[in-house]
Amino acid sequence: MEQPSLVSCLESLIGRENVSAAPAVLEQHSRGESYDESVLPEAVVFPESSEQVLQVVRFAAENRLAVTPVGANSSLEGQTVPVRGGISLDLSRMSRIVEFRAQDLMITVQAGVTYPKINEHVRRSGLFFPVDPGAHASLGGMVGTNASGTGAVRYGVTRDYVLMLEVVLPSGEIVRVGNKARKSSSGYDLRSLFCGAEGTLGVVTEVTLRLVGLPESASAARVAFGDAGTATEYVVSLIQAGAPVARCELIDSRSVAAINAHLGSSFPEQMTVFLEFHGSPAGVAESVELAQHLAFDAGALDFQASADPGERERLWAARHSHFVATVAANPGLRNIVTDVAVPISALPDAVGHALAASEQVGLAAYLVGHVGDGNFHLALFYPGDDLAARNARDVAHSIVEHALSVGGTSTGEHGVGLRKLPYMEAEHGSALELMRGIKQLFDPQGIMNPGKKIPEVNRDPSLGAKRVESPSN
Ligand code: LAC
Ligand code: ZN
Repeated sequence: MEQPSLVSCLESLIGRENVSAAPAVLEQHSRGESYDESVLPEAVVFPESSEQVLQVVRFAAENRLAVTPVGANSSLEGQTVPVRGGISLDLSRMSRIVEFRAQDLMITVQAGVTYPKINEHVRRSGLFFPVDPGAHASLGGMVGTNASGTGAVRYGVTRDYVLMLEVVLPSGEIVRVGNKARKSSSGYDLRSLFCGAEGTLGVVTEVTLRLVGLPESASAARVAFGDAGTATEYVVSLIQAGAPVARCELIDSRSVAAINAHLGSSFPEQMTVFLEFHGSPAGVAESVELAQHLAFDAGALDFQASADPGERERLWAARHSHFVATVAANPGLRNIVTDVAVPISALPDAVGHALAASEQVGLAAYLVGHVGDGNFHLALFYPGDDLAARNARDVAHSIVEHALSVGGTSTGEHGVGLRKLPYMEAEHGSALELMRGIKQLFDPQGIMNPGKKIPEVNRDPSLGAKRVESPSN
């Protein structure tokens, strides 16, 4: 008797409307942002509930099929490329706000909900969720990479806001980790373990977050410098002075030009530090004064502050458009976006090293970064030829090596995906073995987002080769 196809098996589990093998849909799920390799999944599923995710994962486990979770598909390191084929599990239809408990400053959402949607939902209660990676990221993906963004210098990263998670495990169970208390010393911290696991231990289906109060007042500032050296020295002085910055971002003149061209804005095209301060009106005014004083001490060319909400919104919208604006400025070119983070005192050197490395090979590079956290990106654009590609990879490699040599990390917020795998040994040493043990414990068959996050020792050759039955048979 003819065996049913993978698609028809999945359709019978979660409904025809939630499964697709249409070429355009497969193609769309074959790649992420900023990563060249693309591999088609065999099928894409769009579950609407945790129960449906469970059905799909159980089926995948029984048939030893790879499962690659996908949220907004904005990750930059190849996390969503289904390198072993199998099932691409798209959580975008799990977009329900499950429960908002304003009195507990807490919200529970399905994994496909985006962070702007949360902020829209809670705004009238005077609360907000301060982690803003851009790209309309979804909470499942943000948990996956332990994402951060422009507010991390004051408010922290995704992990700092996760109270509870619901996760579908490759063993075919649903587990809930964490609790609704603001603090806990109970058990091992599995909640934190899933934050940054990039879907390699299970599929995050529901997230409970703590929220914080909107600041009473806020002010933003743009501080212009003649070069990256003085700008980063300024940032170090601000952080070392304990200035209560809520956002502290560096953006170079080429990036500002790309943003102006993309948005039709007219920000001065200079090496600029974007700042924001939150607090009481008096506290904010004092912080702005301190920031201005330190700026001119550090050799700033200009300091422009504004408390106008519309102007602040435009400033941060411009900052968040950086990636798309630079892509638009370089049609047809490929890109690598580096993501190292270093101890704050090492920032000026790390940025100087990165710029020198890219200049040496004549690559178009755009500097941007969450410099208050010691985290910066160099977006490198290059044509597809071998030499240019090798140059870009060499520059990115040299930036990581430098960061590791000063005690930093290969990835501050984008995650490991595929591209950072070569650094895991150097970065974690013997702790990598413990990580492998964790992966083995959760996912002994290796079906969950295989090939990502930590280098595999014994790649299972049958995974990705074995098929339930191809639809054409
Ligand atoms: C940013 C992304 C690339 O900071 O992380 O714009
Ligand atoms: Zn970033």
